[in-house]
Amino acid sequence: MLACAALAATAQAPAPYLDESLPADVRIEDAIGRMTLDEKIAMIHAQSKFSTPGCPRLGIPEIWMSDGPHGVRVEFTWDDWMWAGWTNDSCTAMPALTCLAATFNPDLAERYGEVVGSEARFRKKDIILGPGVNIYRTPLSGRNFEYMGEDPHLASTMVVPYIKGLQSNGVAACLKHYVLNNQEHDRDRVNVVVDERALNELYLPAFKAGVTRGKVWAVMGSYNKYRGTYCSHNDTLVNDILKKQWGFDGVFITDWGSAHDTREAALNGLDIEMGSWTNGLTWGESNAYDNYYMARPLRNLIAAGELDEKLVDDKVRRILRLCLRTNMNRNRPWGAMHTDSHLAAAREVAREGIVLLKNDKDFLPLKSGGKIAVIGENAVKVLSIGGGSSELKPKTEISPLQGIRDRFGDENVLFSLGYASGAPDYSRELPSPYDADSLREAAIATARMADAVLFVGGLNKNFSQDCEGDDRTSFSLPFGQDALIADLLAVNPRMAVVIVSGNAVDMPWQAKVPAIIQSWYLGSMGGAALADIVSGDVNPSGKLPFSIPARLEDCAAHAFGERAYPGVNGNVHYDEGLLVGYRWHDTRRIAARYPFGHGLSYTTFGYSAPRLDRKVYMPSDTITVSLTLSNKGSREGSETVQFYTSQKKPRLPRPAKELKSFCKTRLKAGESRVIEVRIPVADLAYYDDSLRRWVLDEDEFTIHVGASSADIRGKVSFRVAPGMALNTDIQ
Ligand code: BGC
Repeated sequence: MLACAALAATAQAPAPYLDESLPADVRIEDAIGRMTLDEKIAMIHAQSKFSTPGCPRLGIPEIWMSDGPHGVRVEFTWDDWMWAGWTNDSCTAMPALTCLAATFNPDLAERYGEVVGSEARFRKKDIILGPGVNIYRTPLSGRNFEYMGEDPHLASTMVVPYIKGLQSNGVAACLKHYVLNNQEHDRDRVNVVVDERALNELYLPAFKAGVTRGKVWAVMGSYNKYRGTYCSHNDTLVNDILKKQWGFDGVFITDWGSAHDTREAALNGLDIEMGSWTNGLTWGESNAYDNYYMARPLRNLIAAGELDEKLVDDKVRRILRLCLRTNMNRNRPWGAMHTDSHLAAAREVAREGIVLLKNDKDFLPLKSGGKIAVIGENAVKVLSIGGGSSELKPKTEISPLQGIRDRFGDENVLFSLGYASGAPDYSRELPSPYDADSLREAAIATARMADAVLFVGGLNKNFSQDCEGDDRTSFSLPFGQDALIADLLAVNPRMAVVIVSGNAVDMPWQAKVPAIIQSWYLGSMGGAALADIVSGDVNPSGKLPFSIPARLEDCAAHAFGERAYPGVNGNVHYDEGLLVGYRWHDTRRIAARYPFGHGLSYTTFGYSAPRLDRKVYMPSDTITVSLTLSNKGSREGSETVQFYTSQKKPRLPRPAKELKSFCKTRLKAGESRVIEVRIPVADLAYYDDSLRRWVLDEDEFTIHVGASSADIRGKVSFRVAPGMALNTDIQ
C-alpha cells in the first residue's frame, strides 16, 4: 500500500501537449512553446526521401509518407530512389483513378480510399501522396491516368469520399498536384496562362471540394508555375485561395523538388519541403537536408531578423495538427494488408469502371464454347508497375490472359503476344528486343484458329506511354498496334479490342471492329474484372470520364497551335478557356468519337421525361428533378443518369452544357424506378472574372438528362428569379 501511495505521489501529470483531454489547439500551442527554432526548422523539411523528423526531444513522432494514389508504394532507401528490397511491402493495387472516376460511383470511391488508407496504416505511413484531381485537358498528358477526368463536378464528387475513406484510418490524404498540372511535358518550369474564370470554374473546384467537403489534411503543390510563380510557393494559390478563402487548416507540402526559393517558400504558405535535389545529397555536405530552402537558409534569415519566426510557428502548428490527426492519435485503427476484402474492392472498382464503347450486334458477351484468341502484350504485362511515382509492387496481379483462362477454361483460350514494347525506363523509350514481323505472323496464325479474337493492347506506363515526367508524343497506339489490328481483322473480323490506358487513343479501326472496351490500369484483380465483363457475368456500367476525340485536332487544347500545347517560350496558354472536353465538343459542335459520359450496357434503359418540383426557383433554393428509369432488357444492369444544365441568355458566354449531378442506379430486368436528384440553384452560377466573384443571373435554365453528354434523353426548363443571393459570392 505504502509503495503504491508513494508512486502515486511522484507520478507527474502529462505535459499539456500530451494530455489527450485538452483541446487540440491548446496542445499544439503548448508544444510550439517548448520548441527551439532549430527543432521547428527541422520539422518543416525532409530528413529522408519520404519522412520528416518530428521533434524527438518532445516525443513528437516522425511523419512517414508514401505514394499514392492507387495503393501504398514500396519502401525506398533513405536518400535515393532505390527500392529498399523489402519482402513485406507488396500491396493491393487498386485500379487507377481514371477507372474509379469511370464508375461514377461515390460509394466505391469511399471504399477505395478505405482500402488504401488501411494498407497505409498497416505499413505505418502517416500521409498518402494522393489522390490527384487535375483536369484532363489533352489526351497526351502523361499523368491523366492518375486523375479523375475532364469534368470538375465528377472529380469533385468522387474525390470527397475517397479522402474521407482514406482518412478514416488516421492516415492523411495529400491532394495533389495543386494546381494546373495538365501536362507533364516541361512540367518543372512551364508557366500556365489561364484566365481566372477557367481557373475557378474548371481547375480549382475539385481541389476546393477536397478541402472544404473532404476536409483533407494535406495538399501537395505542383511543379509548374502560375502567373510566373511556382505553384508550390504561390501567394495567390496557397495563402489567398487555399488557406484563406477555403479555410484549409492542414499541411501544404511541395512536390519532390518543387521548392525554388527560401523567402517565397517561407512567406507564401509552404509548410513542408520535400525532395529538393534529386538524391538529397547533391551538395556533398554532411547532411544535405540542412541545405534545403526551408532549412539552414531559412534559419539564417530568421536569425538575421529578416523573416519572422511566427512564419515557422504557423507551419509547425499545421504539422502538429496533422500529427494529432494521424501518428499521435492513439485511437486510429491498425490497418490491414492485402485482405480478401481489399481484393474484392479492387475487383468491384475495376468491373464497374470498365467502359463498353461499342458492341455491334451484341458481339459481347462472348459465348462459352468457342476458341478465344487473346492477342496483345497488355494481356500479360504487369501494369501496376511503371508510370512513375504511382508505380506499385502488387502482391497479386491477375493479367487479362489469366482472367480469361480462369473464366473460359485453359483449353479454350489461345494466346499470342502480337507486338512488344521495350523494357520500362523512366527517361526514354526503349526499343523492343523481339522481331516485330515474327510476332505479327504468329498472332495472325493464332487469330485464324479462333472463333473470336480479344485484342488487349493500349498504352503501358512506359516512358511517354502514360507515365509521369513527360507526355505521349502521338495520339496513335504505340508499338505498331494499329497495323497489327488491321492485319488481324483481315483474317478474323470477329474481334473485340480492349484498350488499356488512362487516356484517349486514336482508333483508325473503329468502324471495322464489332466491339471496343475501354479498360484502364485495373490493378490486382484487373484480369478477373475484365473476364467478368467479357463473359457477361457482370453487366458493364462504366462511363467515360473524358471525351475521346476522333482526331487530336478536335480536342480544344490542340486547336490553337503550339502556344496552347505544349506551349512556347516557357508559357502554355489555355486559349480554349472554359471549353475543355465535352464543353468544347458541345459548344463548337465537333462530335467526339465517344463522348464524355458514354458507356454501353448489355441491357437498354428507358428514360421518362424529367420532372421538376417547381417552375421558378430562388437562388437559395434546391431544385429537385426526377424521372422514371426503366430497364428494358432481360439482364440486371446499372445506368448512370447524367444531369447537365444550360442557361438561355447568360451575361457572359457559357458552355453549351455543364454536368451538375449524376445518379447511378441498378435495376433488375424489366424493373422501373423513380430516381431523384437535388441540384442547389447556387451551382448554376458562373465566375465573373471582371467582378472576381461567382454570379447567378436571373434567367431561364434547362436541365438536359442524358445517358452521355451527347445522348440527351429529355429536357426540362425553369426560371431563376431574382433574390438575395443574386450577384453575390455564392459559391
Ligand atoms: C511526383 C509526386 C510524388 C512524389 C514522391 C513526384 O515526382 O510528382 O506525385 O508524390 O514524386 O514520389
